[in-house]
Amino acid sequence: MARSHRAFVIRHTRLRPVPGVAGIRLHLGDEVLPLWHALQVETGDPDTALPYWAFAWAGGLAIARYLEDHPGSVSGRRVFDLGSGSGLCAIAALHAGASDVTAAEIDAFAVDAIGLNAKAAGRRISVVRRDVLDEDEPPDVDVIVAGDCWYAEALAGRALRWLRRARSHGVDVLLGDPGRRYLPTDDLVKLATYEVRTTTELEDLAVKQGRVYALRPG
Ligand SMILES: C[S@@+](CC[C@H](N)C(=O)[O-])C[C@H]1O[C@@H](n2cnc3c(N)ncnc32)[C@H](O)[C@@H]1O
Repeated sequence: MARSHRAFVIRHTRLRPVPGVAGIRLHLGDEVLPLWHALQVETGDPDTALPYWAFAWAGGLAIARYLEDHPGSVSGRRVFDLGSGSGLCAIAALHAGASDVTAAEIDAFAVDAIGLNAKAAGRRISVVRRDVLDEDEPPDVDVIVAGDCWYAEALAGRALRWLRRARSHGVDVLLGDPGRRYLPTDDLVKLATYEVRTTTELEDLAVKQGRVYALRPG
């Protein structure tokens, strides 16, 4: 099964540079709806998740830019990328000098997309394919990045509780977001804003304001 996921990702994407993020190439899709339809056919599931992994989302783009500008936030540190999608933030953390990066995803196609994108970058990323938000114990890392995880109410609530717990264990937490509806409003310190180039396939505008926040200790 894993092999067919990988083949699907290769068949439906092209390896290309990520606009505005130096030195990162990803397997990216073109049009979201035809790709989603192909995924529905492939899985036989009309409710299958959107192919998030085939796009660089605005929140993740903001984190990638931030890590490029502030490598010290992850350099020599162990990083965990929650909701990794294509692996964009994970690869950006490695480029910025992270000593070790783990990506977490619940989508089997994303797991293979991350593997392909890490390989294209000549990097190694461990991928955890389980719902870590169900776990009480935070990962044994120094920094957690979460790019664009605030688009759905249930996910946002669970992610915030989990990230707060990690923060209370001393883990630094960086969130990237372009103004999604369920971004928490408390306990965030805005670190930077970037104009990120995305696509009207995903967003209302091709250029969005992507913001990076740190989660304050509770
Ligand atoms: C909008 S995408 C963002 C992807 C990437 N971080 C970026 O910014 O390009 C959100 C991702 O979170 C993943 N996701 C949703 N719930 C999750 C969970 N409980 N644990 C890990 N990943 C999850 C989805 O599969 C999706 O790939």
